[in-house]
Amino acid sequence: MFIDILTIFPALFENIFEYGIIRRAQKNNLVTIQAHNLRDFTYDKHHVVDDRPFGGGEGMVLKPEPMFRAIEYLTHKSEPQTLSVALLSPQGKTFNQEMALRLSKLSRLILICGRYEGVDERVNQTLITEEISIGDYVLSGGEFAAIVIIDAIIRLIPSALGCQDSTENESFSSGLLDSPVYTRPALYRGMEVPVVLQNGNHKEIAKWRRRKALEKTLLMRPDLLEKAPLSKEDLKILQQIKKEKT
Ligand code: ADE
Repeated sequence: MFIDILTIFPALFENIFEYGIIRRAQKNNLVTIQAHNLRDFTYDKHHVVDDRPFGGGEGMVLKPEPMFRAIEYLTHKSEPQTLSVALLSPQGKTFNQEMALRLSKLSRLILICGRYEGVDERVNQTLITEEISIGDYVLSGGEFAAIVIIDAIIRLIPSALGCQDSTENESFSSGLLDSPVYTRPALYRGMEVPVVLQNGNHKEIAKWRRRKALEKTLLMRPDLLEKAPLSKEDLKILQQIKKEKT
């Protein structure tokens, strides 16, 4: 997979992908990440990328010409059906695990880091295939959103984690939050690891984990339960948990 970032601050990305899973995925040629400076696609002496908005108003707008040149340069060889040109902005569709999974299957993802008041609408209308927000808050630009999205995507590329199970069982992939985890020592400062986890009965452990995942989701993110695939047994357990809590 190729990930291109179009930004006015390419230096921000110099070391950020040099750690852990992302570093390993790049070393194993599963992904190539490149940050491109939007100013390199300007023709004027001062490398101007922004200008005042037509009609007046606050702030500056990213100019269309460098954007068109940059995106055309980055897309000219890619098959359109396996490419996404995503603008990062607070107006976009909210990023989630499902979107991460879809994007992880593309052969090329171009992330456009919006800045200032936004990008000239003609860029949006002709070149952008989707607009993504990482949440309902305003960042000073799309750069940190790009980092979040890249991290979430890369760990979903088959073999990036080493063990496929690791993404299937984690929070959101199952539609539920994770159950709690423990490690040695079994007794620490008077707090004991639940006995069921210590006795090696895998059926009982799976049942305990499911119950805890349901309990945690009900407490922290009840909205997720509306969409999560739940069995009859899960629904029974949820009723029990609700009864116990009242
Ligand atoms: N740029 C500014 N705010 C943003 C957000 N919430 N998500 C993505 N890009 C942004």
